[in-house]
Amino acid sequence: MGRDKKRESGSLATRAIHAGEGRQKYADSLTTPIVQTSTFTFKDSKEIDAYTKNNKERFEYGRYGNPTEKIAERRLTDLAGAEDCVVFSSGMNAITTTILSLVHTGDHIVITDDSYKKTLEFCRSYLKRFGVECTIVPFGNYDMLEASIKENTRFIFSESPTNPYLNVFDLALLKKIADRHNIMTLIDSTFATPLNQNPLDFGIDLVIHSATKYLAGHNDIMAGAVLGRKTLIAKIRDLHKSMGGLIDPHCCYLLLRGLKTFPLRIKTQNESALKVARFLEGHPDVEKVYYPFLETHRHYRIAKEQMTGGGGVVTFEMKGNMEAAKRFMDSLEMIYIAPSFGGVESLINHPATVSYYDYSRQERYELGITDTLFRLAVGLEDVDDIIKDLERGFSKAG
Ligand SMILES: Cc1ncc(COP(=O)(O)O)c(C=O)c1O
Repeated sequence: MGRDKKRESGSLATRAIHAGEGRQKYADSLTTPIVQTSTFTFKDSKEIDAYTKNNKERFEYGRYGNPTEKIAERRLTDLAGAEDCVVFSSGMNAITTTILSLVHTGDHIVITDDSYKKTLEFCRSYLKRFGVECTIVPFGNYDMLEASIKENTRFIFSESPTNPYLNVFDLALLKKIADRHNIMTLIDSTFATPLNQNPLDFGIDLVIHSATKYLAGHNDIMAGAVLGRKTLIAKIRDLHKSMGGLIDPHCCYLLLRGLKTFPLRIKTQNESALKVARFLEGHPDVEKVYYPFLETHRHYRIAKEQMTGGGGVVTFEMKGNMEAAKRFMDSLEMIYIAPSFGGVESLINHPATVSYYDYSRQERYELGITDTLFRLAVGLEDVDDIIKDLERGFSKAG
């Protein structure tokens, strides 16, 4: 136990490998065992009584918890400096279950307009069916945000940084506004990860991650997590047990394996993305680059204050038209064309033809999704190879 404790007070790199589990594992396994079972057995009636009457902590049924899942939750709790955590089968499962556990019919919530498309859709249309009203406010307009708070407002939900422009929310100001009205704050911190930004340090009540991205880090699983105080997490866990969107033990193992290299990956991705952003900013075929740690980003000051790294995503707008954008994308040889981000492979996403394909050109432009906008998720390949591939794309775009 002494040794386990020592690990958890070590540096992030050490805790990412060891936190949340004992040294001695099943069958003396070095790595975390995948407990692939749907239920757990009781030796006899005494053991049942110890569990049901004397509150002995143990596992009962797969939907209520699993040892591999528990270790993933403990490790994330440790890395984020939280009190507790629940992991989910996807980021959206984490978001919807968390929101549903906090609202009642007649409540009102506030969300910023830069939030993930599906989160906005859930708040705007599905919650309405249950009599929960939602006000969507423009990101960065703090006066409007405060003015939209009503007697029945339960919480403010935002993201930071946001997709695709990597806007950064002033978390200290958000907390001040929320405290003035005695309401809760929720931040989706997927783009930042607990390493680049820790909203809990700013007093934010609940932090949500799509663990599909940087936390797992290998573009091979779907997962989500919510972190915060024990009392709040207990409420969310309760609903999670009824909703049933649980993550399976093998997925938890892959999440734990990904977490072992998380600090190393983020450090490299921060460095590579900044280098790519600077390359793009100096390129004659590029109109505009969005990266929080570029001096030209509109939230550079606040990003430098509340983040320790700019993250692995760089958004940019090419010069030219839709045809040039397609030629650029089609000429890439190493970078894959795919949505998502946070993994080891570099991915490029063209929002106009992927996530916003069903919007009219005018609707897209109103949201700032132009024909030549790209979101590049910088992977772990050699940064010079990433730049070479981009250069090839520009040279063929014409
Ligand atoms: C910021 C953000 N939050 C939440 C989600 C949803 O996560 P998942 O795809 O794991 O459900 C995404 C997905 O891209 C995202 O970008």
